[in-house]
Formats: sequence, C-alpha cells, structure tokens
Amino acid sequence: MKFTAPVAKNEKYEVIIEDLTYEGLGFAKIDDFPIFIENALVGEKIITLITKVKKNFAFGRTDEIITESPDRVHGIAKAYTQTGITPLQHLKYPAQLRFKQHQIQVDFDKLKVPAEVNETIGMDDPFHYRNKAQIPVRMLNGKLSTGFYKKHSHEMIPLEDFKIQDERIDKAVLIVRDILRKFQVNPYDERNHTGVIRNIMVRVGKYTDQMMIVLVTRTKKLPSTEEITREINEQIPGLTSLIQNVNSEKTNVVLGKKNIVLSGSDRIHDQLMGLDFEISANSFYQVNPVQTEKLYKLAIEKAELTKDDVVIDAYSGIGTISLSVAKAVNKVYGVEIVEDAVTDAKTNAMINGIKNVEFVVNKAEDQMAKWQADGLKPDVVIVDPPRKGLAESLIESVAEMNPKRVVYVSCNPATLARDVKLFGDFGYELNQPIQPVDQFPQTVHIESISVLEKK
Ligand SMILES: C[S@@+](CC[C@H](N)C(=O)[O-])C[C@H]1O[C@@H](n2cnc3c(N)ncnc32)[C@H](O)[C@@H]1O
Repeated sequence: MKFTAPVAKNEKYEVIIEDLTYEGLGFAKIDDFPIFIENALVGEKIITLITKVKKNFAFGRTDEIITESPDRVHGIAKAYTQTGITPLQHLKYPAQLRFKQHQIQVDFDKLKVPAEVNETIGMDDPFHYRNKAQIPVRMLNGKLSTGFYKKHSHEMIPLEDFKIQDERIDKAVLIVRDILRKFQVNPYDERNHTGVIRNIMVRVGKYTDQMMIVLVTRTKKLPSTEEITREINEQIPGLTSLIQNVNSEKTNVVLGKKNIVLSGSDRIHDQLMGLDFEISANSFYQVNPVQTEKLYKLAIEKAELTKDDVVIDAYSGIGTISLSVAKAVNKVYGVEIVEDAVTDAKTNAMINGIKNVEFVVNKAEDQMAKWQADGLKPDVVIVDPPRKGLAESLIESVAEMNPKRVVYVSCNPATLARDVKLFGDFGYELNQPIQPVDQFPQTVHIESISVLEKK
C-alpha cells in the first residue's frame, strides 16, 4: 500500500512546537509525522502552512501564532529568519543561550556519551559583534546588489543592516557596492559561472580600528581597477588594506588562492589576549573578539598548564592559542593546513617576542602521526578543529602520545560528541562539564570547551 503523508503542500494545520532543531527550526508532529517549521518556538501553538512534503517529513512556515512563547522577540523582518545570518533573532537572548546548552546535551545523549553541560556564557551586547563579513554580490532586478542567501538555497535576499556585523563593516559594504555599481562591474552569475565580482569581504581589527577589504573576482581582470581603488580609498579614509582575490572556481568556497594588493598593506593587525596579531586575507581569525578572549582564557585555565609543559596546538590558525599559552609553558608546537596562516603565526610569534613556539604547515592528522612516530610526548594537547571535527587517526595518535589532558575547543557539538566517544575507546573521558561560550549570538552556531583526561 502506498504511504500518504498526513499533511499536504499549501495546506494549513494547527500544531504545538515540541523542540527547536540544531538549525533553529520549530519541530512538531502530526500523527507522528515530523514537520520542521520556520519562525516557530518551543511551546507555541501555531497554524503552519506546509511548504514542502518529503517521504518522511515536511517543512512548513508559521502562518499564525495562536499561543505565543514568552521567549519570542517581536518585529523581526522575515529576511533575518529566512537567511543564515540571524536565524535565532526571534528568540530572546537568554533563551538562545539555553538552546545552545540543550543542543550539546542532545548531541551527547544521542550517542549515549555521558556528559554534563554548563550554562552558556553569553555576551552583554549580542549584536554587531562580528569582525568579518563575506557578502555575496549578485544581480537582483537588474542591479548589482549585496545581501545574503536564504537558508539551503542560492536565492539572495538584499540586506543593508546585517545586525551582527561591526557597523563599520555594514557601511563599508554599501560604499563598495555603490562604487561597483557606478563603474558598472558585472556581478557574478552562479548558474552560468559568468560575471566578475563574487563577494566583498571586510575584516576589521576591533582594537586597532584597521580595516581590510577584499574584492573577490571570478576573473583576473577587474575593469576600472584604478578608479575603483581610488574611490574606495577616498570614501573610506585610512583603509589599511585593499585586495583583489581571484577565485575562478565553481565553488562555494569564498576565497581563491591568488591575492593582488590594490592599495595599502596585505594584512591588518589586531590585539587579542594582550598580544599583537597580523592577519592576512586567507587566514582564519576568530570572528567575535570579545567572546574569543573569554573562550581562550577558559581553555587555558582548564588546560592547567605548568612551566615545564610541552603543548600541542592542533589547527593553530595564525597562532592565537599557541601564543596565548606560550608564556605559561616550556614549549608549544602548532600545526595548521593553510600556509599563509602559518606564515602569519610565525610573524606573530616574532612581533610578540615569543621564542618557544614552532609552527608547521601540514594536515593536523598527518603531523600528529609524525610527532608520535618521532617520540614527541606532549603534556597537554589543545585541538580547535573546523566543523567537521577530528580525523579518527588524529585521535589515535594523540592517545598514543598519552598526554595528561586534551582540551577540545569545538564549533560543532555533533562532531564533538562523536570525537569524545572515540576518545573514550582510548580511555580518555570528560573530566568536567562541557562549557559553551557563545561566539555567534543570533545564530545557531555553538562553540564550547571540553576537557578530557585518562580515567
Ligand atoms: C576553528 S579554526 C581554529 C584556528 C585557531 N585555533 C584560532 O582560534 O584562531 C580551525 C583551523 O583549522 C584549519 N584546518 C582545517 N583543516 C585542517 C587540517 N586537516 N589540518 C590542520 N588544520 C586544518 C583551518 O585552516 C583553521 O585555521
């Protein structure tokens, strides 16, 4: 017998929202059939309009709220809940912090890994915190436009106020957009892989006030380069760095490998943990400086470092963690895959007068195996991987090296839970509650610190 879903597209149904998914969608059921609903909060009774029906679940949006959650924020324009920029903006901030704590617990419970999770450490002002933006440039209604993508789509919604970015960035994006319009630069057309300008990336140094603007182009040629460079510098006086980055690939990755400095320097400076950092266009740098300092301070505290310790910092980026712990220990080894980031890390060690660090360009999993084969015996290993988490082989190499402690800084609780479970196979277990630190207010991203020790 053919299964028919209990809901149909474009029909309306009354539901009660039971949970919020890791993507911030309201979860409800009709006859045990799961429905994921945009702009719906836990406990709310709503009328949902079904937008898509799949074999085992459906998507809907909120058509009418019958009973409202006390955690709902009013007056949020649709563009914000629709895009990935601020998908939690309709949830009050204390509830966002509880959601993140809960979500980590859910991921650990799912894998039956025992874990306690502390309350999320939040921000006093959870807006305008981002020091970096990568804004897509597309043709909308015949006009070069900037905005952001609708979730799970390549449909761009035009936006001028991004809410979570440093306001200097919002302003700079509009200035650059208008200059690109004036010189009639063709925006990128994703479908046909034509056009010139793909993205505008802007990064600011929170403490130094320095700004870098990167114009990401599909083609090596940027028409009217000189005029555009002059106008941007005229309208943004004191701009530290203007770069053209060429990305000719058909890819979602924003930056290509080739950078051409159009004016100023090829890098900017910022300060973190009282240290001076140089950051170039392709390097990863934490996006929320206020919360990063809280995160690092806690990670270092939890690492319980002593003067004789040897520390490995895996996924070391431009060396922010390595350099922050260097003074407290005997020696730090960092490994990072992006060559420019390692060059930055080495410069950063030098300009801060730090000599007991060594940075290597390599895949963390390969380098860890090499260090292990070479007989390196770290006392503490700190890992701060990207969202996909750790390679299994890295966990094995770490365990073989037998450090007394592993400090895991994670930006994805699902892969964190998976990796903690794998560490368990080698006798390493969480020795304290997981500590979430909100690096990404108004979004569903979850950052946390875990500490593992041998039983
Ligand atoms: C979450 S960031 C952490 C960076 C640094 N710890 C910080 O806080 O600034 C992850 C870093 O891992 C790097 N990366 C990604 N895959 C890697 C791999 N397989 N091996 C080494 N580094 C990798 C990225 O380039 C990025 O710099």
